Amino acid sequence: MGQVISVVSGKGGTGKTSFCAGVAVALCALGEKVLLIDADSGLRSLDIVLGMSDRVLFSYADVISGRCSLKEAAVKHQVVKNLRVLTAPVTLEAYESCDRTKIPELLALAREHFTYVLVDCPAGFGSDVMDFALASDRAVVVSTPDHTSLRGAQRIGNSLVKEGLENVRIAVNRVRAGMINTGDSVGIDAAMDAAGLALLGVIPEDKDVIACGNLGRVLVLFSRGYARVAYANIARRLRGERVRLLEGVKLSRK
Ligand SMILES: Nc1ncnc2c1ncn2[C@@H]1O[C@H](COP(=O)(O)OP(=O)(O)OP(=O)(O)O)[C@@H](O)[C@H]1O
Ligand SMILES: [Mg+2]
Repeated sequence: MGQVISVVSGKGGTGKTSFCAGVAVALCALGEKVLLIDADSGLRSLDIVLGMSDRVLFSYADVISGRCSLKEAAVKHQVVKNLRVLTAPVTLEAYESCDRTKIPELLALAREHFTYVLVDCPAGFGSDVMDFALASDRAVVVSTPDHTSLRGAQRIGNSLVKEGLENVRIAVNRVRAGMINTGDSVGIDAAMDAAGLALLGVIPEDKDVIACGNLGRVLVLFSRGYARVAYANIARRLRGERVRLLEGVKLSRK
């Protein structure tokens, strides 16, 4: 039986989609069978980041409404064995015509076929986020180490816990040692305190994340940077392994 993990944030642009792509590929490298669901209707971006935009035909709304099977809609990644992507509906009509009470059923089906299901949610507290997150087994809140982003992380984290989701942790993204040292950025401990969430991992600022996302390239295959290692560490922790916080990772000094 697979595990469903929703990836959420309070503020937008914190690195959820990059996190989903990086961690999913790392899980596949560890032998897991992974489904990535893009829950960001209208603004979907996982297919671009993974270089699959010309291959995506059906969305999760098509599966829910019975127009196609999960297997037909979940597109196989061209390079990464064991990775499939199920995209979000693009048009407002497709989004609105989808019976969202069936999202738990969709996730139950996904759990039967995959060992990990990562849901790339839109930012904020909308019903599209809550429908997926509250039907998940756990959630990861991605935040940058900025006060505004951390406040958003605290609010979405709290809401999910209040609604009954027990396992909610934070991943602090785009961390730079140089800025922490000069006091220009919040440190890791302070970030955890501000968000009030237990830490899942830290991802350094790494220009390869931006380049690979723009080119639709798999980070693991094209980068020797530290974000790649950080995503792999997080994948191992999700599988229950004990991995030191910055094992093999150096934070950028700039
Ligand atoms: N660790 C990182 N180092 C450098 N750049 C990063 C890192 N993580 C994400 N980025 C960049 O930040 C931008 C936003 O990332 P991403 O699209 O993953 O965020 P998001 O939370 O999914 O955004 P949205 O809320 O709009 O869905 C992208 O340009 C991405 O390449
Ligand atoms: Mg996104």
